[in-house]
Amino acid sequence: MSGGVFVKGVWKAGQGDEFQTINPSIGEPHWRGRAASQAQVAEAVDAARQASRAWRLTPLTERIRILESYAAALADDADELAAAISQDMGKPLWEAETEIAAMQAKVAISVKAQAERAGHKLTDAPFGQTQLSHIPHGVLAVFGPFNFPGHLPNGHIVPVLLAGNTCVFKPSELAPSVADLMISAFTKSGLPAGVLNLVHGGRATGAALLNADINGVLFTGSAQTGLAFHRHFAGRPDVMLALELGGNNPIIAWEPAEVDAAADIIAQSAFLTTGQRCSCARRAILPAGAWGDAVLEGVIERAKKVRIGRWNEREVFMGPLVSARAAQAATDFQMQLAKSGGKSLRRLKRMDLGDAFVTAGVIDMTEARAVRDEELFGPLLQVYRVSSLDDAIGRAGDTRFGLAGGLVCDDDDVWDKVQQDLRVGLLNRNRPTVGASGALPFGGPGLSGNFRPGAYYAADYAAWPQASQIAPSATRLSATGFPS
Ligand code: NAD
Ligand code: SIN
Repeated sequence: MSGGVFVKGVWKAGQGDEFQTINPSIGEPHWRGRAASQAQVAEAVDAARQASRAWRLTPLTERIRILESYAAALADDADELAAAISQDMGKPLWEAETEIAAMQAKVAISVKAQAERAGHKLTDAPFGQTQLSHIPHGVLAVFGPFNFPGHLPNGHIVPVLLAGNTCVFKPSELAPSVADLMISAFTKSGLPAGVLNLVHGGRATGAALLNADINGVLFTGSAQTGLAFHRHFAGRPDVMLALELGGNNPIIAWEPAEVDAAADIIAQSAFLTTGQRCSCARRAILPAGAWGDAVLEGVIERAKKVRIGRWNEREVFMGPLVSARAAQAATDFQMQLAKSGGKSLRRLKRMDLGDAFVTAGVIDMTEARAVRDEELFGPLLQVYRVSSLDDAIGRAGDTRFGLAGGLVCDDDDVWDKVQQDLRVGLLNRNRPTVGASGALPFGGPGLSGNFRPGAYYAADYAAWPQASQIAPSATRLSATGFPS
């Protein structure tokens, strides 16, 4: 039995409800533990508060040294970490290995980003100097999603610790086991007790954390939960809220010479991680006519042939969805699209391989009576056929979300037009929508977040700027309006 809380450098059994994860590849329990109780959450926040001043005043060079040592500990335990992720949520082992590599790389990226975007700067001025400093918020709560249970919380934790904050981390209850190994890597790195604390559990634990004495929340997860958090903190400008939410991402293909390349890019965008990436393409927009037909055929062919298997099988592209429940939700969503007039081109189906397995699906929504502007977190691609580029851009932008978008096209003028008119945070050309660069910001407008992008720009929300005008000694002001 694992679970519970990690407070002031010590693991304690949870006093909340018992819960477990089921390895979705085999339908058997992988991790079992108890949630932190409300009192234990308060204890974790208190520990972070007590550690806050000493950590904030620890020299940056020492904080960097500890984080570099954490990255080295992740490298040492990479196999175990990757296996934990794959068994909790189902992604193939090769993919979980790339997640661990991204976690290690995050340290060097954060050090660079912090220096560039949040450094300390003194400039000469007529009265002395101006100074720009960046001040950590204090105690920050980090909430992780299940789809990147290591990389995404790590993407908050590393920059905020670097900036001098302390943290309480609540991992996803659907994929908690990698978090325990992250704590072990931090412990090996010599991170002082109390700087990073962890509370396991689901919504009740999360709610207790939101209600505790925190200075900010770093949340990566669904728009639904993000909206609930946004409402929770209405009227609380003192709490910094960084929301990284979902998308209903479009990809437009506009007649590049390579039909197969277009089909590859679209299929990879839609089906990587079994469609469980916030950056996955949910909607493909293709021209009506023979060229669009050929690309569509290529996408359907790839959906048929994609290799689906268990987490530790070789050459698997798609693992299961995170749970049998998610598989049911995916087939239900498809059924609703069909009821509104969608025409199935390749059905997303449950599989004999296990309760959480589904095939990749493609559905033509061109003639549908209604669009459903929601994110289905699964491998179902909706297709729209259009007669002009303006229609394509209009269709792509017909969403409340704004996370990611793609254009597959050889024509620079088309790229310019799409760039001018499509309102998304990540816009790729002739590249899949998935596979974000850590050296760029990550986030988008609309229901996809609250304009506090992460990845390279995490340095911006990890600390707030303080502006100072500094004169070396007090001297009389030349024009005060006060006669002497
Ligand atoms: P989720 O919103 O269900 O859960 C995320 C976290 O919030 C979990 O730790 C969960 O326990 C907690 N939580 C959920 N409801 C809560 C509540 N009412 N009170 C307190 N805590 C609560 O998200 P998920 O299903 O784990 O992850 C998938 C979602 O995350 C998708 O929508 C995906 O698009 C999104 N996502 C976004 C990004 C991004 O960077 N924009 C990246 C990855 C995933
Ligand atoms: C995600 O955060 O869900 C996706 C990021 C990526 O595509 O690399």
